Amino acid sequence: MAPALLNYFGLGGSEAAKEDKSALRALPASWYTSQEMYELERRAIFSRKWLLVTHKLRLGQTGDWLRYDVAGFQFVLCRDRDGNINGFHNVCRHRAFPVVLEEKGTSKIFACKYHGWSYGLNGKLAKAPGYQDLDDFDKNKNGLLPIHVRIDHNGFVWVNLDGKEKPEIAWEEDFQGADTQKRFGIYDFDNYQYDHTWTMDAAYNWKIAADNYNECYHCATTHPDVPALADLSSYSVNTKAGWIQHDAATTPEQAAAGLTVASTYFFPNASFNVTPHFFFIQRFVPSGPTCSSMRYEVFRNKNSSDEDFELVNGMYKRIMSEDKYLCNLQQQNLNSGVFVNGEMHPKMEKGPLYFQKVVRDTVQTHYKREQAAKHEIWPARQSLPNSALVSEKDIDFCSGLACQTNQEGLVW
Ligand code: FES
Ligand SMILES: [Fe+2]
Repeated sequence: MAPALLNYFGLGGSEAAKEDKSALRALPASWYTSQEMYELERRAIFSRKWLLVTHKLRLGQTGDWLRYDVAGFQFVLCRDRDGNINGFHNVCRHRAFPVVLEEKGTSKIFACKYHGWSYGLNGKLAKAPGYQDLDDFDKNKNGLLPIHVRIDHNGFVWVNLDGKEKPEIAWEEDFQGADTQKRFGIYDFDNYQYDHTWTMDAAYNWKIAADNYNECYHCATTHPDVPALADLSSYSVNTKAGWIQHDAATTPEQAAAGLTVASTYFFPNASFNVTPHFFFIQRFVPSGPTCSSMRYEVFRNKNSSDEDFELVNGMYKRIMSEDKYLCNLQQQNLNSGVFVNGEMHPKMEKGPLYFQKVVRDTVQTHYKREQAAKHEIWPARQSLPNSALVSEKDIDFCSGLACQTNQEGLVW
């Protein structure tokens, strides 16, 4: 066995000897099936963490917009007249009808189709028919609810749904250095253009997909294409704060075929794989505890031939469909109530073990804060102005009712 392969299997020299030699327990099945856990993840993870969404190449012109959703939150990204990319919840400030009803478009304004309120590309309320006659209605306080947007060094677009003026978690806290990885030096992201989007609906928890992506222990048994893409004997993952870097050496044949791959997973639910002819963003978009959709945005190098592009594009489509098959059947068994969990390999499954640890730490920390506060904490939720006193009373009244009806379950 080559030294690299020995290393991969945890059997190498002194370096490997220092590695943890004990198997570790995976998160239990209930974490992949429970509605309560899903709701906690919506609060603790998807309302607080930075989420990789797309690349600025998709928002090239003034007025271009894209609609996204994640874990029940729906938002719009849009390029304004100043060239900035803004983000808003897809919720009209009047009575919560969605301001866009399609997946993408190019617009001069966003006009709500319920009562006709309209908003500028910067989210400011432009017109609220009839409200000009009211004394105390402030248009400036009724713009679309903003979300935080960040464009990284390579032009990837990130969002954070934390409703505070400054999100509790700084992008750098989780992703410092993620966009300036040395291995990106051989790719020029300006040379690519958006090609297409594709989606697979899936009957599994989003974390099943993350576990699957973050190890290549299954590659030899399930992906006939992978040996053409990566030298499995040198495969390793490096975990750093909010990202997991996947490394595999490139053989001369792979390099000649344009298959020098750099893959990175970005907690919680996205990744991208870049090659000289192609890159794609993959998002595991949860819509419930046991359902999600796998969304792919594919970009191609402007200078690549159809043949070069199709080689890698086709490979990844096959690989992702094979993964879907694995995850579907795995989830069915988790749902049945027999299996609780198994033991994972500390090296070959280092990626999913790290991912699971970050999930566990993040939801438990948030839950402790909720217990201390004696109520759920929803960081993405709209905060009301002081003038909305009557609403505070209405909210308190309703949560009192919830407390009584919840006596069998969670009581605050
Ligand atoms: S809900 Fe949008 S205008 Fe009324
Ligand atoms: Fe796979």
